[in-house]
This record gives sequence, structure tokens and C-alpha cells, in this order.
Amino acid sequence: MSSHRRPVLAANWKMNLGPAEAESFLDGFVARYEPRDDRTVILFPSALAVAAVRQAIQPRPDLRLGVQNVSTEQKGAFTGENSAAMAAGAGASFVLVGHSERRHIFGETDVQAAQKCVRVVENGLVPVLCVGETIEQRERGETGEVVLHQLRAGVSMLNHEAIREMIVAYEPVWAIGTGRTATPQDASDVHLVLRAALAGLVGENARGIPLLYGGSVNAKNASSLLAAAEVDGLLVGGASLDPVQWAEICSSSVQRIT
Ligand code: PGA
Repeated sequence: MSSHRRPVLAANWKMNLGPAEAESFLDGFVARYEPRDDRTVILFPSALAVAAVRQAIQPRPDLRLGVQNVSTEQKGAFTGENSAAMAAGAGASFVLVGHSERRHIFGETDVQAAQKCVRVVENGLVPVLCVGETIEQRERGETGEVVLHQLRAGVSMLNHEAIREMIVAYEPVWAIGTGRTATPQDASDVHLVLRAALAGLVGENARGIPLLYGGSVNAKNASSLLAAAEVDGLLVGGASLDPVQWAEICSSSVQRIT
């Protein structure tokens, strides 16, 4: 069975670009990046810049919107949190779940990642579940085990249909914001492991689940990473903050994956 997945290019702005900065970013970006139907571009602004981004991309339905985090809870007395329902109401279609900064700086657990995936799906949004090993884990040869554990735990409360519709991002912790990128081969090796595990869960349909690579991606290395086997897209932090470089990355040559 052939799949219909298109390469996904996702910008994780982290705690950068407020509403006014996001607007001027988009002025620059849309002038440099024309809509293309062979790829999906997703922006993950700060929750406080979502409204500004939604407004700015209104004439560009090819550009999709996501949020960087949601609460495990549905609603109520959780000061400072945003719910998945609020993200949906604000125009988001995607939610990052379990990003390594959430896991390592804020102590987010696998159980919370699983609960967040459920909230995201319940509200009709697509989770982008992030997994990745630390340098110590890689050096001990535990990469496969770590990412498989994070993947299986993260999807453990989802049904097959939801798993088929999700996105998974492999982001080695040692490559995030360090300038040290995984080689295309490193990325392929881990993506193969993830794809096999997803196939174990949902069978042939696992071929349609986009597997993104993230960690020090830039305009220079984007094409070679996108050309790597089993790499269906990129999740980009630092290099997505510059509209010129982000437009270049989004214009990288891609192959339609069958
Ligand atoms: P980076 O971040 O591109 O700045 O390494 C990637 C990410 O954390 O999603």
C-alpha cells in the first residue's frame, strides 16, 4: 500500500518572537516562500503569538499553525496553563508533545506526554510526539531503547486510528541548539527503529506517519537530512527564527514519498 505522506517542515520558535516580531517575521517569510503543494509547513509560535500568526497567515492556507505545549488537564484552576481545546479554538492544528526541553527542563514525564496526546486528539488536533536520547544514553548504546520507550509510552493511551494520524519527531538531545547535527545516517538509523515499532502497533499504516528529524537543522544541512531514508521532514528551532533562512529551508528539494 502506498502512503500519502508529504514532507513536513516545522518551525519551533520556543520562547522567541512575540506578536509584533511574529508579524514582521511573516512579512519577510511569505514574501520569500510561495505556496507549494508537495510539502507541509507548520509554525509553532509562542501561545501568546498564536493570534497574530493566525491573522498574518490568513491569506496563506498552505501555512499551518501549531502550539508548543498544552495541559494534561481539560480546564479549571491550573494557573498559567493552556488547554488543548483552547489551542483548537485559537486556530492550531498541531501540538508539540514531549519536547526535550519540556522533559528535561520542566520534568515532564512519559505519562504526562501520553495524557497530553490524548487531550490533543480529543480536541481534533494532531500530536507531534518528540523523542530523543541524551549524549550519555547514546554513548551507552541505549538510543534505540530510549526512543522506543518514549514512543510506546507516548502513544500508549491512543487508539490505532489516532496513532496513524500523528507525527513523530526524533530529536537527539545532544543535537538540540548545540550546532551538532546528527548525520543523515544517524537520523535514518533511529527513524527505521521508530518506523518498525509503529508498524508493530498499526501495521502497514505506519508508512504514512511522518517521522521528522530535529536538532541543529539549518539551511545548509536541511536537504541532505531530508534526503535520508525514513526522514519525512524537519523540526527546526534556531534556524527557523530568521525568515530568510526559514524560507530557504522550506524551499529545500524534497521527494514525494511513496
Ligand atoms: P534547534 O532546535 O534547531 O535549535 O536545535 C530544535 C528543536 O528543539 O525543536
